[in-house]
Amino acid sequence: MKVIVTENKIQGGARAFEIFEKEIRNGAKVLGLATGSTPETLYQSFVASDLNCENLISINLDEYVGLKPDNPQSYHYFMQKHLFDKKPFKKSYIPDGMTKDVAATCKAYDQIIKEHPIDLQLLGIGRNGHIAFNEPGTPFDIGTHEVKLTENTIKANSRFFDNEDEVPKSAICMGSANIMQAKKIILMAFGEKKAKAIKEMIEGPVTEDVPASILQKHPDVTVILDTAAAQELDDKYKN
Ligand code: GLP
Repeated sequence: MKVIVTENKIQGGARAFEIFEKEIRNGAKVLGLATGSTPETLYQSFVASDLNCENLISINLDEYVGLKPDNPQSYHYFMQKHLFDKKPFKKSYIPDGMTKDVAATCKAYDQIIKEHPIDLQLLGIGRNGHIAFNEPGTPFDIGTHEVKLTENTIKANSRFFDNEDEVPKSAICMGSANIMQAKKIILMAFGEKKAKAIKEMIEGPVTEDVPASILQKHPDVTVILDTAAAQELDDKYKN
């Protein structure tokens, strides 16, 4: 894994955007996109740029089950607000959290990913090392699936909701198998609360207890951190 340490999330977002822009110029057509507070500065860089996204396809990692697209806490809403309203894509896929048939929706999402192989996948990371909503203990070899969120994740995400009870209890999300098929991956993490997960992801063993550790087995991963998220990392891993 290549590790880039920047001073703060603004610089981290700008650095990630440089990579996206270069890959798009070099022919990348399918972007795997993520939500959460981490990618916000990257999306700000997209919006501030003159990059045209109208020929690109985006495929998002996950969506809460039970939230309508116009619910301000849904990932549909997040993507519209932070990116798609200002930079429309040719086609944007996000799992349908309102589906009546979750299994069929997951299967169809795997098919979408198969038909549009992801050139560049963006990831954040949870404090417990989860990627998308692949929580500790999730098998590495599964595709899109429904996941029951852990207490930790519900607590961490409750800051976006009025109270913890409003946080949905499950989500539809790409599996590690989908993520690992992307040609190139950028993982971003900012803030000291991510420092332990980053250390375990990079320095620890590859284990389903730390879902992000699977990335050690991918040939092209760039990790973009701020100094706080990098603080526990051994210097030898920092480029
Ligand atoms: C959620 C999302 C993840 C995201 C994580 C961290 O669980 N499903 O994709 O990486 O939160 O969020 P944040 O970037 O807000 O710290």
